[in-house]
Amino acid sequence: MHDVVVRRATLLDLETLWKISESEAQAPHWSRSSWEQTLGSPQRLSLLAESEGRVAGVLVVACVGSIAEVETVVVVQQARRKGVALRLLIQAQDELRARGVRELELEVRASNSAALGLYAHLGFLEQGRRARYYSAPEEDALLLAKSL
Ligand SMILES: CC(C)(COP(=O)(O)OP(=O)(O)OC[C@H]1O[C@@H](n2cnc3c(N)ncnc32)[C@H](O)[C@@H]1OP(=O)(O)O)[C@@H](O)C(=O)NCCC(=O)NCCS
Repeated sequence: MHDVVVRRATLLDLETLWKISESEAQAPHWSRSSWEQTLGSPQRLSLLAESEGRVAGVLVVACVGSIAEVETVVVVQQARRKGVALRLLIQAQDELRARGVRELELEVRASNSAALGLYAHLGFLEQGRRARYYSAPEEDALLLAKSL
């Protein structure tokens, strides 16, 4: 996808992001007020990918000192497999490095082959597993991390 623009998400994007989390089946179902807190939080880096004026994807990373955690990355169905998630994560990594973050971590459902493919592509390594971490459906979480 050549026309993708990645920029910081702000409180002005609240309605759009909330609607995506309502409509995309695999998006985190955060409430409107959770999105509001996330977008206003100085400890979070929220990036939005747009294509032809429409939101294609969103990424939220929480930063605590030298460690950051991917809280969500979701690309809308029609924009998938075009490099949008890669663009979001590569820009986040650049910004995190500039902030002095040394390690990027995340948890992912063990069956989420698309996400596991994405993280493997970016050099994340498996650090461990949390048994039955997720519910509905119950499933293990894999803990992945990469050094920045
Ligand atoms: C996971 C997700 C964010 C990937 O977004 P995307 O924009 O389609 O991913 P990209 O196009 O940037 O893919 C980059 C690489 O990741 C891997 N990948 C992406 N989707 C894949 C899939 N369905 N199967 C296998 N590998 C996949 C590939 O290596 C791909 O490179 P390639 O296309 O050159 O082979 C997207 O599928 C999504 O939103 N899923 C639902 C939400 C979710 O599960 N988020 C992760 C929670 S931890």
